[in-house]
Amino acid sequence: MAVLPIVIAPDPVLKQKAKPVGHVDAEIRRLMDDMLDTMYAAPGIGLAAPQVGVLKQVIVIDVAREGEPPRPLRMADPEILWASEDLNTHEEGCLSLPEAYEEVTRPARVGVRYRDETGTLREIEADGLLATCVQHEIDHLKGMLFIDYLSNLKRNMILRKLQKRKKQGMVAA
Ligand code: NI
Repeated sequence: MAVLPIVIAPDPVLKQKAKPVGHVDAEIRRLMDDMLDTMYAAPGIGLAAPQVGVLKQVIVIDVAREGEPPRPLRMADPEILWASEDLNTHEEGCLSLPEAYEEVTRPARVGVRYRDETGTLREIEADGLLATCVQHEIDHLKGMLFIDYLSNLKRNMILRKLQKRKKQGMVAA
């Protein structure tokens, strides 16, 4: 297991579409474990493979609160089957957008189908923080970031700030 470097925006890899995994093999399982290590070390509650420079449809999530036992989710080829009509607004952050936190409105509940680390197809119904997180991570696989839901003005302000930090060498990218 290993902590991988996290890609910081703006970066073209974060805007690309990830490819389906299809078959979950040892390499994908290792990627999932490395991504969990990277996410816990950051620390964060979700991470998508493009954020570690890998354009594969893999995400990891753990929305357990501090003090609760870890509940890691490893998902390959996650797909949203349905979304509730009622919405939920949650403040979101992203490990690829350090120090940016903004409210985003999304469906409050979603049904998700994915392959777990053994390749078994699973379906879950997510609500609350998990619903927000799984939609945020699946967006990453489509080359979308949460700032894409904001106004151009807000998005550009956040990206300019990050670009400046990169130039100053404050962020390893
Ligand atoms: Ni993110």
